Amino acid sequence: MTTPNPKRILVAVDGLSSCGKSTFARAIAAELGYLYIDSGAMYRAVTLALLRAGIHDPASLSVNEMEEFLRQHLVGFTAPTAMQQPQVTLDRTPLGDEIRHPDVAAMVSQVAAIPVVRTRLVATQQALGAQGGVTMDGRDIGQVVFPQAEVKIFMTARPEVRAQRRYDEMVSKGLPADYQQILDNLNERDYIDQHRECNPMRPAPDAIILDNSSMTPAEQLEFIRPYLRQALSQG
Ligand code: DC
Repeated sequence: MTTPNPKRILVAVDGLSSCGKSTFARAIAAELGYLYIDSGAMYRAVTLALLRAGIHDPASLSVNEMEEFLRQHLVGFTAPTAMQQPQVTLDRTPLGDEIRHPDVAAMVSQVAAIPVVRTRLVATQQALGAQGGVTMDGRDIGQVVFPQAEVKIFMTARPEVRAQRRYDEMVSKGLPADYQQILDNLNERDYIDQHRECNPMRPAPDAIILDNSSMTPAEQLEFIRPYLRQALSQG
């Protein structure tokens, strides 16, 4: 797939927490020369903004208060250079690993369940993908954000495999990590993500299901290539 293709498709990568969605979505974007957008980072940025404002119970805000909060704390993306993938920003300041902190992880599902938060962030995500040429990962990308996406992938893996991967990632970044706490947190997040009223996480009917419990990143790319090729070759 080295020849530039004038057709610029949308690739939606959804799935459970800590399944390697971002690694996979990033690899697909690199292969196609597309933008990679981490939609979860946007929910994490709103959560971080709330925590910084001393709000530990997002449900304590009324709909109007939350709307006002979102107007005052803008979440977006910036690409430092044309060679780099966009990075999530809060009030135009790029965010780093602070959005992966356990305090953010513990509250983000509650924030992502709030309808006004979803409405606002989904609109931004749709604008980012309006020209095509985007790989976006999240929970509702294939169902809600880009129902027209040419390739939709839904990733899953065994909970213990996912907890170990997240643990290893956090340790490698020097972040505080506790395996059992991570496992409990991701089971809880999956439950909230799957059972919330607003845009619950579930595979789109036309999604390709990928269980990567015992697959390497290279094997996952190998698996998806024929689907990408097919989508790119269709009129
Ligand atoms: O992918 P992640 O772990 O960074 O996602 C953080 C949280 O945001 C997680 O609880 C699911 C939620 N989320 C969502 O509801 N919709 C998305 N499109 C992306 C993430």
